[in-house]
Amino acid sequence: MTLRALLVVYSYHHKNTEAIAKAFAPVLAAKIVTPQEVDPTEVAGYDLVGFGSGIYDARHHTSLLDLADRLPHISDRNAFIFSTCGIPAFGFSQGFVLKNHTALREKLVSKGYKIVDEFGCVGWNTNSFLRFFGGLNKGRPNAEDLKRAEDFARGLTQKMRDP
Ligand SMILES: Cc1cc2nc3c(=O)[nH]c(=O)nc-3n(C[C@H](O)[C@H](O)[C@H](O)COP(=O)(O)O)c2cc1C
Repeated sequence: MTLRALLVVYSYHHKNTEAIAKAFAPVLAAKIVTPQEVDPTEVAGYDLVGFGSGIYDARHHTSLLDLADRLPHISDRNAFIFSTCGIPAFGFSQGFVLKNHTALREKLVSKGYKIVDEFGCVGWNTNSFLRFFGGLNKGRPNAEDLKRAEDFARGLTQKMRDP
């Protein structure tokens, strides 16, 4: 049976997270939608849903968190969480990613989603005074980041089979 996958993405600062979603999409044969345009009941119809945005004030964008609140309770559905964040590349770790994902993860788990995996990447950040210096992480996500995103997406189907 073919896996039905959907990517719900909010990306506005430099479209950093959208670039990651576009790397996932062909691997998963997934449609990309925004939290604003998607119907919460439609989301519940997919076997695998990726939820992602940039990190703003240490959490996902409000529109994604609001969507999670509006999702119906489900069972037997898989989700994954992704983000791009603007900290310096040398301070980046999976622990930092998971911390930033906490609010969204808790909401999705409370709706009955099983979180298959979580992906994070640094992204160009010109927030606030950083813009005067060209920002942090210019050029990220780069080709290597997009390759890592593709590999991550390939691994998801395997993880769903053998958790
Ligand atoms: C208003 C604002 C707040 C931000 N807050 C954080 C933050 O708390 N932690 C962090 O690591 N990056 C933060 N960033 C940087 C973004 O997460 C980063 O640039 C991200 O790649 C943007 O994703 P997007 O281009 O998909 O919107 C912030 C950026 C903006 C514009």
